Amino acid sequence: MIRSAIHLARREVTAVANKRMISTTNVANYELNKIAVVGLGSMGHGVAQLCASAGYNVVAVDLSQEVVDHSMGAIEGSVLKLAQKKAAKAGTDGKTEEEEARAALSRIETSTDVNAVADCDLVIEAIVENLPIKLEFFENLGKITKDDCILASNTSSFPITKMAEASGVAHRVCGIHYFNPVQLMKLVEVVSTEHTEADVTSAMVQFAKQTGKVPVTCGDTPGFIVNRLLVPYIAQGVAMLARGDASADDIDTAMRLGAGYPMGPITLSDYVGNDINLAVMEGWMEAEPNNPAFQIPEG
Ligand code: CAA
Repeated sequence: MIRSAIHLARREVTAVANKRMISTTNVANYELNKIAVVGLGSMGHGVAQLCASAGYNVVAVDLSQEVVDHSMGAIEGSVLKLAQKKAAKAGTDGKTEEEEARAALSRIETSTDVNAVADCDLVIEAIVENLPIKLEFFENLGKITKDDCILASNTSSFPITKMAEASGVAHRVCGIHYFNPVQLMKLVEVVSTEHTEADVTSAMVQFAKQTGKVPVTCGDTPGFIVNRLLVPYIAQGVAMLARGDASADDIDTAMRLGAGYPMGPITLSDYVGNDINLAVMEGWMEAEPNNPAFQIPEG
């Protein structure tokens, strides 16, 4: 009897806490409470989930209602799965964790209209990897966002500097590069251009930490840190397979057991998306055609 009363009281306290659990990142002129994520593909929906789970209010935007609906289904499945895992680890009945997950879902509002980002403090762009489309998008963002809104791109392959310059508000533009699956991978790269204000970088580092990630900071060079090393490695693995040097299974096993990678390069290439890897390398080749590190292997 007493035990169930305590349990009930604890649940009520948690429910109230969840309602109140609104996160804020505060650095100089940048106070981040309401975060927009635009583009709800595999990266964008993960970022929206991450922000909501960390207590931020989120506006999740995609031009397609079908994509919005699909991504909200994926987010629900993922938050509930993570809640179950958390409960199993803590040895609880899972009710509190499920309430927290539902509270996170309730912090996400959706829209198919990009103007919904107008009152947000941070916009994270995760739209299609196509530079002209991104430049047009950033030009529009520069016009429709507040003067103290940070604009961050999750691009894997394109220069943040170009998007910053297209926006007309380059001082408040940076890169925030997440890794797939966003919900599980700990790292985030915070990318500054020569225009990025120091307070913007600091705010994004603090924000990344508040979402439970480990941020690293770097300049705006092709591939930043991880992809500069990882994408050529994946490409070499695929070329090895194409040449018939070894089977896909043996290449993957070799790198998992011989180098301690969680996935081999062939599985990883599929997981990230062969189209994404190719787009990354093509982007680099176009920018620096004479750089031998950026040549796509013939196979
Ligand atoms: N949400 C919630 N739960 C999830 C999930 C998600 N999105 N994805 C997986 N899980 C769950 C699984 O269901 C599983 O649950 P159970 O334990 O109950 O079965 C659990 O997480 C672990 O999953 P796995 O069994 O697949 O276990 P794993 O130990 O192999 O971990 C992994 C999975 C973290 C993806 C690991 O394989 C890994 O680190 N792979 C390498 C990924 C990588 O390199 N990513 C970077 C790619 S590069 C990039 O993204 C940048 C770019 O710009 C291209």
